[in-house]
Amino acid sequence: MTLSGKNILLGITGGIAAYKSAYLTRLLIKQGAIVKVVMTPTAKQFITPLTLATLSQNPILVDFFNSENGGWNSHVSLGLWADAMIIAPATANTIAKMSNGIADNLLTTSYLSARCPVFVAPAMDLDMFAHPATRRNIAALKNIGNIIIDADEGELASGLTGKGRMAEPEKIVAAVSDYFEQSNQLAGKTIMITAGPTYENIDPVRFIGNYSSGKMGFALAVAAANRGADVILISGPARLKINNSRIQRIDVTSAEQMYEACKSNFEKCDAAIMAAAVADYRPVNVSEQKIKKADNALTITLEATPDIAKLLGQQKSDRQLLIGFALETENGLANATEKLKKKNLDFIVLNSANELGAGFNTDTNRITILKKNGEKIDYQLKSKNEVANDIIDQMIVAANEIDK
Ligand code: C5P
Repeated sequence: MTLSGKNILLGITGGIAAYKSAYLTRLLIKQGAIVKVVMTPTAKQFITPLTLATLSQNPILVDFFNSENGGWNSHVSLGLWADAMIIAPATANTIAKMSNGIADNLLTTSYLSARCPVFVAPAMDLDMFAHPATRRNIAALKNIGNIIIDADEGELASGLTGKGRMAEPEKIVAAVSDYFEQSNQLAGKTIMITAGPTYENIDPVRFIGNYSSGKMGFALAVAAANRGADVILISGPARLKINNSRIQRIDVTSAEQMYEACKSNFEKCDAAIMAAAVADYRPVNVSEQKIKKADNALTITLEATPDIAKLLGQQKSDRQLLIGFALETENGLANATEKLKKKNLDFIVLNSANELGAGFNTDTNRITILKKNGEKIDYQLKSKNEVANDIIDQMIVAANEIDK
């Protein structure tokens, strides 16, 4: 029983596929889960609360208030109770509300207050599913870390045929089971991750920096923490927030500070992923006062910063993994291969700065992984959260090879 003792909150919205929710509830119970069902008012038109209450062995929740006894269904307690929330079927309407933080029924308030992983199984007509507004809303949910269980192709309630059918209940249960199975994969491991840009001061108000947002590194930190790792996230100046008890965040500004933080933490780590865009050069002299404008050209002499990845590569033990990134504008494969060797990395993640939707300051990325044994894996353009999971998967493969 893969879901033994797990509290699962099943959210059902008003779509024809709601008839499958009865079977989904049974499958969840069979896997040992404790299931509570929250329905939108419209969902009741499609499947009776009685059926679901019987199958889930719990009363069904629809309203904030119980009209019979005046009792109150707390709008947040269900979200806090759940180890996982599944919204199946998820209509275009509810997906739009979720992606915009609209909380106008018990299902959407539970969603907004849930601290657990959320699985979303969209179900709608093919044109609604393909509409740019729905695409954007689903992408937004993916970006905030919700797990989308993609709709299937086939016959739809409208009589049309296309993509929009809710994934079969077996597939939904498998996605949730896989998630919990994976959540222990890195238990007991400590992973250090660098993220964001570094700023190298020129004077008190100016610096040399770059356009890195930190999104890739932060997504990696969440992905590693979701697999049970303790994460040390060493971040340059990034405008991102993170709230996860497994992630210890250390904020730094310059390459030198990032190096110091990495050096003092690396020894206790099982792996380090260097996703930061560290400045390669810094001014030799930092002016104490703001540099005044003059008529002649200004020359600032630069010196190399510490190459953190390379220095850790020299220190790393046989039991530690070191993973780097290469952001290239030309000769990607050749440059990445050289960095892989020079920095003594176990693998390197190559992304192109020229490609639309990849690299700095985007929510998506397209990567190629090059391993020290010469293996090369090309991936599709994906959200940075999905890319982060692909990288963590490969880190686990590399860790298993060490253990052999
Ligand atoms: O040599 P290059 O800067 O292209 O290498 C990129 C990889 O090295 C990234 O993983 C980056 O985080 C890391 N790096 C570093 N310290 C530097 C420069 C890059 O750790 N000073």
